Amino acid sequence: MGAHNFSRGEYYNLDMVGDELKRLNGPIFITGHTGFKGSWLSLLLNYLGIEHFGYSLEAEEDSLYKRANLERVSSGVVGDIRDLENLSNVIKDVRPSTIIHLAAQPLVLKSYQDPLETFQTNCIGTANVLTAAFETPSVEIVLVITTDKVYRNENSGRRFVESDPLEGKDPYSASKVAAEAVCAAWQQMSKISGGPKVLVARAGNVIGGGDFAKDRLIPDAIRAIMSEQNLLVRSPEATRPWQHVLDPLIGYLTYIEKILQGETKAEALNFGPSERSLEVAKVLDIGQEILGNRLRVVLEEFEPNKEAKMLQLDTNLAKLELSWNPIWRQAEAIRNTFFWWESVLSNEESAFSNCLKDIKSFLT
Ligand SMILES: NC(=O)c1ccc[n+]([C@@H]2O[C@H](COP(=O)([O-])OP(=O)(O)OC[C@H]3O[C@@H](n4cnc5c(N)ncnc54)[C@H](O)[C@@H]3O)[C@@H](O)[C@H]2O)c1
Repeated sequence: MGAHNFSRGEYYNLDMVGDELKRLNGPIFITGHTGFKGSWLSLLLNYLGIEHFGYSLEAEEDSLYKRANLERVSSGVVGDIRDLENLSNVIKDVRPSTIIHLAAQPLVLKSYQDPLETFQTNCIGTANVLTAAFETPSVEIVLVITTDKVYRNENSGRRFVESDPLEGKDPYSASKVAAEAVCAAWQQMSKISGGPKVLVARAGNVIGGGDFAKDRLIPDAIRAIMSEQNLLVRSPEATRPWQHVLDPLIGYLTYIEKILQGETKAEALNFGPSERSLEVAKVLDIGQEILGNRLRVVLEEFEPNKEAKMLQLDTNLAKLELSWNPIWRQAEAIRNTFFWWESVLSNEESAFSNCLKDIKSFLT
């Protein structure tokens, strides 16, 4: 189970994530631990000395998980959340106290190519995780990670609050709205017949070192540099709530902790930056400041209806309920992400030690 191969940092601020999570009656079970967020979460939990266990598909070749050799520090198994029997057997064996459900098909453009698989993974997969959790008496909390893209978006620029209507136009967003409907049903069952508390976290465009997913801005920029190609940009004026992956991860852990302490009853929370969302062009300016003319940007024609142009989250509820606040501002998060890549690409630092450095600096 959760290996603790490196010691807790001397600078860690105990006020941020308290000791409640260490008193959990069983490990934290992470679905999607080989993915981008799951890799950072495993590293963060290791650093904090919190036991965890993962369940995911095989890590992809260019993933942070592989780049940083995370099989050394995180324990888990290869498994599919669409396979209820296997998932349920593993959860029963591990006897976790909490499940953080990250596993998903998270890419909008891929969801247009394979909508059925996207729905099977994101919607039925979530129902499977909840079914298995409700059959396992040790599980107290299931935190399901959806997205900021679940809100009905008319591109007005208004910040979305948790009670806003949900509607997903593209297949990915719609599959996450379906996952939210699944969560609402299990929240109701938990209230009526007992069972784990089901929570939902909606986060914005998460960035950080090591993300190599297709059709995401910073990974696309890094791939373009590696192959000495131009970076084709669809809509430089589009805005996104960029945030460093460590900010929502600390938010998720704080959410679980406050639920355990009975300090909040919130069933869904937004996690995003406090400032106005930044334009794609601004992200690329910062990238060019750090990477110089190796990052060559070429504008491409925008395909109007594929993705929302403006997206902003209201995070006041998380601030009120959890006293959570993003630690790195958007520009700092973007800068740190490009610096992470700069030192990995130039072989100055390993991916693993860069992540550790970011965690230490973030928590200080
Ligand atoms: N990265 C972002 O900007 C962002 C923004 C909003 C929401 N999210 C959500 O956060 C979560 C994690 O995103 P990410 O960026 O780390 O994605 P990722 O693609 O890097 O990782 C996905 C993980 O899910 C696992 N997975 C996929 N299908 C599976 C299946 N059928 N069975 C078991 N495991 C499976 C993969 O093996 C991998 O470990 C997702 O739910 C995503 O929708 C991400």
